Amino acid sequence: MIQEITAANLDPKKFIDEQAGIIREAVGRNTAINALSGGVDSSAVTMIGHKALGDGLKTIFVENGLMREGEPERIVALFRDLGVHVRLVDARDEFLKALKGIKDPEEKREAITQTFYKKVFGRLVRETGAKHLLQGTILTDVDETVAGIKRQHNVFEQLGINPEEAFGYKILEPLVQLRKDGVRKVAEALGLPASVYQRMPFPGPALAARIIGEVTAEKLALVRKATAITEELLASSGAFQYMAILHEDRVTGMREGKRDFGFQIEVRCWESMDARRAIPKRLDWEVLENLSLKILDGVPGVVSVTYNIAPKPPSTMEAV
Ligand code: XMP
Repeated sequence: MIQEITAANLDPKKFIDEQAGIIREAVGRNTAINALSGGVDSSAVTMIGHKALGDGLKTIFVENGLMREGEPERIVALFRDLGVHVRLVDARDEFLKALKGIKDPEEKREAITQTFYKKVFGRLVRETGAKHLLQGTILTDVDETVAGIKRQHNVFEQLGINPEEAFGYKILEPLVQLRKDGVRKVAEALGLPASVYQRMPFPGPALAARIIGEVTAEKLALVRKATAITEELLASSGAFQYMAILHEDRVTGMREGKRDFGFQIEVRCWESMDARRAIPKRLDWEVLENLSLKILDGVPGVVSVTYNIAPKPPSTMEAV
């Protein structure tokens, strides 16, 4: 049973010192590695880990080809400015290959998990001699996985999986007692910029979670573009999370007087406190209209843009 620390009860500075101590104790003089994705959880873990281990922690950004536009370069540069060296590892082909032909959401997650933890990190662990992986699992990830709602990519022990046996290294989870609001307080106390600690959530499986059906390089390019447009136009909405989803089914549309059997993009924009329940934000019609026109204009082959109005539950926030 994990002891929750609520944001209200959290003393961020004390928490950071305690967790850095635990990491130092566990890793000793060995090497540890961690994967940075640029989200608030992995960014906080990166900073706590470097506080604890200095150069003993090797931070890696895995370019899995599923990231948002410009993301890998932006995150590496941001951490360089914070004095943390991040190694960029190109694993795009490995992930695309692993996802080939898979349509089922949970199978997609599993393919990403295995590629990430077993193939890519297995290799990096052997290369660096690391014995520990630090990762930013939070309590909500564990809850949802245990409840069988959605298998989070980063939860193992609670599913009876021993990472040391399965992947060959131990996993440390300094944030596992916190929920998102607590992690944001910790990230701020670590000196991360507001663009990181206020950043909206983004799923571990990244844009693969935004494509219904098979993930291909072509579909990734489309959803990446739609995501950039949606994030730009809804940045001032104040919503908890917003996203563009590429549907599997095509629909009939018309372009230049001709029938065009084209793609559908679904936009979701959520109001929520903690992602456990959520309702669609009542966006102004002008905002929705502008979004639709920009997506139709900027994403090749799209002929339909819809806005989701179903709450969670019974919906989930992501469509995959
Ligand atoms: P759902 O779709 O379960 O999403 O209502 C709740 C929150 O969790 C994020 N999410 C994920 N995060 N790995 C993650 O790290 C995942 O597999 C995953 N699936 C959903 C989602 O973006 C939302 O904030």
